Amino acid sequence: MCTSGRLCCPFLFMAILSRDLADSWFNGSIPPALCSLPSLQVLFLYNNLLSGGIPPQLGNLTSLVERDLSDNQLSGVLPKELGHLRNLERLVLINKEFTGELPQSLARLKKMVNLFIFGNNFSGRIPEYIAKWENLKYLGLIGNSFEGPFPDALSSLNLSELHVSDLTGSNEGRGFLFPNISGMTSLEWMTLRNCSLTGPIPTFVSQMKSLYYMYLKGNKLNGSVPRWLAGSKALYAYVFVFILFSL
Ligand SMILES: *[C@@H]1O[C@H](CO)[C@@H](O)[C@H](O)[C@H]1NC(C)=O
Ligand SMILES: *[C@@H]1O[C@H](CO)[C@@H](O)[C@H](O)[C@H]1NC(C)=O
Ligand SMILES: *[C@@H]1O[C@H](CO)[C@@H](O)[C@H](O)[C@H]1NC(C)=O
Ligand SMILES: *[C@@H]1O[C@H](CO)[C@@H](O)[C@H](O)[C@H]1NC(C)=O
Ligand SMILES: *[C@@H]1O[C@H](CO)[C@@H](O)[C@H](O)[C@H]1NC(C)=O
Ligand SMILES: *[C@@H]1O[C@H](CO)[C@@H](O)[C@H](O)[C@H]1NC(C)=O
Ligand SMILES: *[C@@H]1O[C@H](CO)[C@@H](O)[C@H](O)[C@H]1NC(C)=O
Repeated sequence: MCTSGRLCCPFLFMAILSRDLADSWFNGSIPPALCSLPSLQVLFLYNNLLSGGIPPQLGNLTSLVERDLSDNQLSGVLPKELGHLRNLERLVLINKEFTGELPQSLARLKKMVNLFIFGNNFSGRIPEYIAKWENLKYLGLIGNSFEGPFPDALSSLNLSELHVSDLTGSNEGRGFLFPNISGMTSLEWMTLRNCSLTGPIPTFVSQMKSLYYMYLKGNKLNGSVPRWLAGSKALYAYVFVFILFSL
């Protein structure tokens, strides 16, 4: 494959401009030489036959704003060098085989807007440093093996979407209280599925005036469906369906 950065340049450019071309051109692992493109802003690698891990050198692409590596056969632990991508705004890794903890170095990605890492096998605690990503709007962690509970510290984020599922651990069978996300008053989509939640749905949810989707299936929430839900105009009827199935 590519052996020098200069040769890789046109190659990569086509990959960005044309999804079809990218589909047929990328076949193998991500060439480390990509890393000599310091002003690269966007890297889409849809539907390729990529395999292997993400080369640590990608962390040298400090201007990268978006990464979407969905549908490629990438796997492994995320390299800590990703933390060098200080301008990164979107990291999308859907249905891959990534494992291990999110590296501590990602704490530096203060411009993140969108972290969608559905369907991998990430583990460990959901990092509290995410609370420092003040621009974050979309946090999608569904289908991994993160440990509960969901950290209350993330309540300071002004999220539009929060999607979490399948938290491991059960607090010695006692379960976890509904996370205190009372600060997320602009939340529109909320998924907390199979997160060992117990106790009632807290009343702060009634203050989330933009909320129109709430999926809470597979928990052990108890108590009655709160009365304020009925009076909450922002909530569509199907919210009740989801809640009723969960209690
Ligand atoms: C991928 O590369 C291998 C060997 O380099 C080749 O045999 C195969 O045809 C390639 N596949 C595609 C889809 O280009
Ligand atoms: C990143 O670039 C620096 C110099 O610009 C180089 O010393 C370092 O080895 C590179 N890191 C990787 C992981 O390629
Ligand atoms: C996911 O990761 C956990 C902990 O690292 C491991 O025990 C488990 O076997 C992994 N599951 C799959 C499907 O790879
Ligand atoms: C939170 O985000 C919403 C849009 O999603 C925006 O309208 C609102 O001003 C933000 N609030 C703060 C305090 O930044
Ligand atoms: C719920 O989450 C646990 C822990 O990740 C997992 O082992 C289990 O398969 C999940 N259950 C369902 C029904 O998805
Ligand atoms: C949630 O946290 C806020 C401040 O962070 C606090 O004022 C409030 O009492 C807490 N609510 C619950 C239900 O724990
Ligand atoms: C709901 O669950 C909590 C925690 O498990 C428990 O303390 C409480 O008594 C339960 N309430 C009802 C109405 O079952």
